[in-house]
Amino acid sequence: MKILVTGGTGFIGSHTCVELLESGYDVVIIDNLSNSKKEVVDYIKQITNKKISFYEQDVCNKDSLRNIFKEHSIDAIIHFAGYKAVGESVENPLMYYRNNIDSTLSLLEVANEFNVKKIVFSSSATVYGNPKTLPIREDFPLSTTNPYGSTKLIIEGILRDLYKSDNDWSIALLRYFNPIGAHKSGLIGENPNGIPNNLMPYIIKVATKELDCLGIFGNDYNTHDGTGVRDYIHVVDLAKGHVKAIEKILKGTGCDAYNLGTGNGYSVLDLVNTFVKVNNVDVKYKFKDRRAGDIDACYADPSYAYKELNWKAEKGIEEMCKDAYNFIKKQ
Ligand code: WQD
Repeated sequence: MKILVTGGTGFIGSHTCVELLESGYDVVIIDNLSNSKKEVVDYIKQITNKKISFYEQDVCNKDSLRNIFKEHSIDAIIHFAGYKAVGESVENPLMYYRNNIDSTLSLLEVANEFNVKKIVFSSSATVYGNPKTLPIREDFPLSTTNPYGSTKLIIEGILRDLYKSDNDWSIALLRYFNPIGAHKSGLIGENPNGIPNNLMPYIIKVATKELDCLGIFGNDYNTHDGTGVRDYIHVVDLAKGHVKAIEKILKGTGCDAYNLGTGNGYSVLDLVNTFVKVNNVDVKYKFKDRRAGDIDACYADPSYAYKELNWKAEKGIEEMCKDAYNFIKKQ
């Protein structure tokens, strides 16, 4: 079975390619390297000792896509490619709508031309907005507070309408919570350039003295210690969830959403203190004002994913912190 992975050299994409290859799938990657590096393809080969086809192309380019579908008999698609920085999307909404939606429409139109109607879509828990109760179930109301989240919600709607128009499609919408950590090898992981938006990369840059001090955005939230609570999930658990979703969509047809989270919520201080303890490092921090758009707490009810995909997260917060730091130490 051959899987086309768009954005396959990215943080979650690369870990998913490793799990796909180790589960016996063939993998074809298309990635324009706008937010990743070409050597990730070599690291995936080194980890798995498997061959992999890579195309440095843009998913918006339908002729590039057609060439790939002509050259390879694709059985299913995992669509990661897209811009994903919340703050950047607020500053530059048109770039986000154009890129994330155009690339998806091009991909779906070409897949349809080649009668490839099985796709796993990289969605996000951000589509739940600020939930009234917790844990979050897939049938909760959907709303978004930034253009990045809106592109995810719009694309979920496009995929649901596509299935309604043609029941031959088989679609899984995977709503990620907060992916962190890295592959045990330390060869692939998350290492954004510049000042990170997300918590874990920022903690790491303070631990390695690249940055001086972590700013904790708000300590007056309605949580056990006043700092924001999130459902952090090991990126390898998340990647395994994609393999389970592929197995599901290869079996039949339909369109459904699944929460990929652990079901456990940890605060900013929980994560900082765990990171310091397991890695025996210092992380200086100070409390700052809340960040616009942040919510108090967010964590998943992962029971539907367990029931439907036979998947659940296995790795705990300590392993996430250890593996994340192990990756950076090897860079
Ligand atoms: C986590 C917690 C912050 C940075 C975002 C996207 C989401 C998904 C994951 C793509 C919050 C606090 C953070 C810092 C801090 N991305 N924080 N200081 O906002 O939950 O989710 O990334 O799918 O769509 O919205 O993740 O890591 O930015 O923040 O105190 O320097 O850490 O307030 O409580 P978030 P995050």
